[in-house]
Amino acid sequence: MRLLSPAKLNVFLEVLGKRADGFHELETVMLRTNLHDVMTFETTAGTDVSLHLAEGSQNRLDGDFPLDNSNLILKAAAALRSVSSQTCGAKITIEKRIPMQAGLAGGSSNAATALLGLNELWELELPRTELHRIAATLGSDINFFIEDCDAAICRGRGEIVTPIPVAAPFHFVAARPSAGNSTPQVFANLQLPDTKRSSNDVVLALSNGESPELSTTIFNRLTAPAESVNTEMAALLRRMHELTDQPVFMSGSGSTCFVVCSSENDAAEIAMKCRTLDAVFLQAMSSTC
Ligand code: C5P
Repeated sequence: MRLLSPAKLNVFLEVLGKRADGFHELETVMLRTNLHDVMTFETTAGTDVSLHLAEGSQNRLDGDFPLDNSNLILKAAAALRSVSSQTCGAKITIEKRIPMQAGLAGGSSNAATALLGLNELWELELPRTELHRIAATLGSDINFFIEDCDAAICRGRGEIVTPIPVAAPFHFVAARPSAGNSTPQVFANLQLPDTKRSSNDVVLALSNGESPELSTTIFNRLTAPAESVNTEMAALLRRMHELTDQPVFMSGSGSTCFVVCSSENDAAEIAMKCRTLDAVFLQAMSSTC
C-alpha cells in the first residue's frame, strides 16, 4: 500500500495563553499542500514493525532521519498496536521530501499516515474518532492530517480540528535556511501578547479563494521569537522580501519562510528569483482544495 504524507503550511497562528501542562493554547489555520513524502506499507511474516528510508531520500535531507523507536512513525505503530490485539508485523518505507524542523509538520504527517495506513493494512477498522484520540496522545499537529481536509482551524494544543472551506488552490514559494527550529525553544522565547488576533480574515480569504486578500491577512505570533533563536532565518525573511517584493511569512514554529503567489506560473517565476537565497530547501508548492 502506497500513501502520500502531505506537508502543511500555517497561514495563521495566534497563541492564546500558556496552560498548566506547559503547552500553549493556540488558534491556528493549517493548509494541506501538495508537497509530500511517500510511505509504503507491507505486511511481514514476523511481529516487528520496521522503518526504512527509500533510496536517495537521505540526499534530500539536511539532517539524519531517525529509523529507531524515537521516530513518531514507530511510536504511532506502537500506540495502534497497544489498543488492538494486533500482532502482525509491517515494513514501512518512506521517501522523504518534506524537510525536518521546518514548521511543515513532516513528522506529524508521517505519524498520521502511519495510523491511517496500518489501520488499513492490519484491517483493524478503528473509527476515525479512535485514530484522533491516539493521534492527540502523540503530538499536537497529527490530528489535522487524520481529519483529511484541505484546511482547518486548529485549537487547543492544535489537536482540536475544525475543517474550513478553501475555494481555490493557493500557490506559494517556501524556503528553509540550513538551520531548523526547535519548537520548544521557539515557544520558550515567546512573549505572550496583550491583544490577541483573530483568524476570521484569513478564513474569509480562503473561502473567497483570493491570493492578494490572503497575503494581507496571514499572521504568525511565533515569528518574532523564532527570529531571535534563528538569526539565519531572520536574514532569509529579509532577503526573500528584497528579492520578491512580497510580504514573507513563517510556517508553524519555522524555520520555513514563504510568500503567497498569484498562480502556479507566478510561483515558478518567484522560485527562480529565489535561487540565489542561502536556503537548503526551496520549493514552489500549492494548497489542495
Ligand atoms: O506536540 P508537539 O510534539 O508538536 O510539541 C512539541 C513541543 O512544542 C512541546 O513539547 C511544547 O514545548 C511545544 N508546544 C507548545 N504548545 C503547543 C504545541 C507545542 O508549547 N500547542
